[in-house]
Amino acid sequence: MFDMSELGGHLAAIHLEADTDADYTSPSEGRRPGTAGSTSSANSLAGSTKAVHASMNSVEMTLKTAQEYTYENGRRYPAVAGRKYILPIDQAEIERLDLTHQLWMMLLNDKCHLAPLQNPQRVLDLGTGTGNWAIDFATHYPNADVIGTDLSPIQSTYRLNNVQFVIGDFELPWKCDPDTYDYVHMRHLMGSIKDWPGLLKYAYRFVKPGGYIEIQESDITSPCSDDNSHHRAHGILRWSALLYQAAKSNGLDMNVAPSLAGYLREAGFVDVVEKPFKVPMGTWCKNHGYKQLGRWLLEVSRYGYESYGLAAFTRFGGLKLEEAEDVIDRALDDCADRTLHIYYVFRVIYGRKPENAFTPDNGRGAGWA
Ligand SMILES: C[S@@+](CC[C@H](N)C(=O)[O-])C[C@H]1O[C@@H](n2cnc3c(N)ncnc32)[C@H](O)[C@@H]1O
Repeated sequence: MFDMSELGGHLAAIHLEADTDADYTSPSEGRRPGTAGSTSSANSLAGSTKAVHASMNSVEMTLKTAQEYTYENGRRYPAVAGRKYILPIDQAEIERLDLTHQLWMMLLNDKCHLAPLQNPQRVLDLGTGTGNWAIDFATHYPNADVIGTDLSPIQSTYRLNNVQFVIGDFELPWKCDPDTYDYVHMRHLMGSIKDWPGLLKYAYRFVKPGGYIEIQESDITSPCSDDNSHHRAHGILRWSALLYQAAKSNGLDMNVAPSLAGYLREAGFVDVVEKPFKVPMGTWCKNHGYKQLGRWLLEVSRYGYESYGLAAFTRFGGLKLEEAEDVIDRALDDCADRTLHIYYVFRVIYGRKPENAFTPDNGRGAGWA
């Protein structure tokens, strides 16, 4: 069996070889879900973790009980966040999060983390989304108590005794004691956080001395290739530039991932490790493992270009709905073009709070947990 751990390591040393089989056709190259050319559904690719199955069944029920949503351009957004959160919270987004979780599990060889954890007891997942990660982590570590927190009640109704979901805003003061958590996890929160250095400094207070923080992100506005073919991906490049600019005008850095290791060090974490991975877009790679990863990223992207782009382009980028949809569709055309050998860099970054760290008891607030 192909070992996904081969996919990590030093990026420059890893060359992604193109599949030159002209007869190869992919079942999932194509359009946004629901558009005319769509040939597959997310459910057909959805993976096998308990969390994913449960969240698929329960989402609608949970959404009906949620406080309030606003609707824009046919997508549902959390009103509780005002207009500060740019991604939708609806069924299509939940399917995207489920698929993304599967992609990460495939990439990390079925591991929820890369930090060298030993018997973690108290664990916090910031912006847990559907809670898939929290549930899988809690399954791997039955002795750990895992809290997943999120603005919106979209978590799976699959329940484990050692997982608790808390609705709240992690940018408001936390009311737990300093030095509480053995491990804090954050995944795909680009687009959610304006002040990354400030939040990481704040989170540092609540990590136990000797405990870890881990961030998993991808460079979604920086498509790459080893043969420069990404320079021909005009649709993806336009989408990326527009997203970067529109988000920036709203104070969000959509290219923050390469800066995160530095922010962790500034916050006080030590022995910071960054592990980058190449993840191809689509099925153009010859190597079977990469081809599978690329197929999943393509499926995620059929939702993702719209999820990230729609509100950003129409709220802050000055585009009309039809213009925004066109930008998204042109990007998806490039994704399906197997002559473009595009990959994205996914990064896992973790660091440890020093064992002798002293945390003054001044970080406690009246917030969510
Ligand atoms: C792109 S999703 C990622 C979800 C999950 N971490 C994952 O990887 O599947 C970002 C999540 O962060 C949540 N979020 C954004 N800003 C937040 C905030 N200030 N406080 C709590 N949750 C927040 C959103 O509601 C959303 O569920």
